[in-house]
Amino acid sequence: MNQYQTGFGNEFQTEAVKGALPVGRNSPQKPAFGLYAEQFSTSAFTMARAENKRSWFYRMRPTTAHGAFEPLDTMLRVSSAPFPDASPNRYRWDPLPMPEAATDWLEGLVTYGGNGDVGTGAGIAVHMYAANRSMERRVFQSSDGELLIVPQLGTLHIDTEMGRMDVPPGHIAVIPRGLRFAVRLSEPSRGYVCENYGSPFRLPDLGPIGANGLANPRDFETPVAWFEDVDRDFEWVQKFQGKFWRTVLDHSPFDVVAWHGNTVPYRYDLARFNTIGSVSFDHPDPSIFTVLTSPSETAGTANCDFVIFPPRWMVAEDTFRPPWFHRNVMSEFMGLVQGVYDAKEGGGFVPGGASLHNQMNGHGPDAESTRRAMQTALRPQKIADTMAFMFESRWVIRPTPFALTSPTLQDDYDTCWKGFRKAQLPR
Ligand SMILES: [Fe+2]
Repeated sequence: MNQYQTGFGNEFQTEAVKGALPVGRNSPQKPAFGLYAEQFSTSAFTMARAENKRSWFYRMRPTTAHGAFEPLDTMLRVSSAPFPDASPNRYRWDPLPMPEAATDWLEGLVTYGGNGDVGTGAGIAVHMYAANRSMERRVFQSSDGELLIVPQLGTLHIDTEMGRMDVPPGHIAVIPRGLRFAVRLSEPSRGYVCENYGSPFRLPDLGPIGANGLANPRDFETPVAWFEDVDRDFEWVQKFQGKFWRTVLDHSPFDVVAWHGNTVPYRYDLARFNTIGSVSFDHPDPSIFTVLTSPSETAGTANCDFVIFPPRWMVAEDTFRPPWFHRNVMSEFMGLVQGVYDAKEGGGFVPGGASLHNQMNGHGPDAESTRRAMQTALRPQKIADTMAFMFESRWVIRPTPFALTSPTLQDDYDTCWKGFRKAQLPR
């Protein structure tokens, strides 16, 4: 059983060996046991204090102890912004098939789309993974962005430089930009990844909601320090400005014996989300379901919002209860962890699948969901056994050639909005 510390954005501190963590300073002349002190910063040193993110590692060897990286040209299915092609069309995909060949989490990644520019540190990429074996003596870091991982099938066992996390479907994990990690699997696994080139995910402000609600800080879990003392070869793969590079270490990079700080990996159980909705009429905008947000320089306009549609009660009176029809300046990539999404009761959006609705293009409930929602008696209704989510971004999410030519792309998505009866005006 892995152990966790709780809270969001705390000054955590943890040591796997008693006495390894210096007291009262970050970089003593001689850290205990001959450890090396190393700072890991994911914000500029000069970032405002409330947003300043750095941690201190106390490790058996400094990270600098490695040779040159060489290009790794096998990761052809993963791409980075800028993505060239945009489309106003609405898209939906069947689940990614599970691989037949032995495929680890990194090899199983494939990019569906994204926006912004990895070189300027703005925007996102959306990947999916389907994998069936553990990363064995192989570690990965994205220098391009923070990784928000949403498992759909199979528990991920994520070993990081800062500790180990178990992340089953229904949980999410966030790995800071540049932190090395490896994913072990106990079963075939599939899920979604948002690579966030922009400012790190944080909890949204709550405004009139008050001091509590939505995702509460105490429910986020960060691992305790863990290390392995292994002098064998490890392949270290990094994604750097959209390209993959590799080098070989003669030891495990998981040699951080103690650490403290506030830039950390964490996991979160989506069942802990305090879902808020209407108790009178209409339903609020889906921003009420925001778990985490990566703000842009424009206040209120996110580089990326991570939004969920969890189990909840619907009680609003005289209200069209599914997500309404809309056109939106933001762009939306959706996935489904389990169950049925209440705007797509007509089928086609299945667990492990995905959909994309880009800027200013109409979407909303399919004809079947609309018909039911307009006819149903409005009793309190529990929407149970469901977990849809959305990566919502200020910029158009540009699909990759893979996404547009994949056999999983549904060629009939538009037809789910066919067959609406025309309104009958008085004569
Ligand atoms: Fe939408």
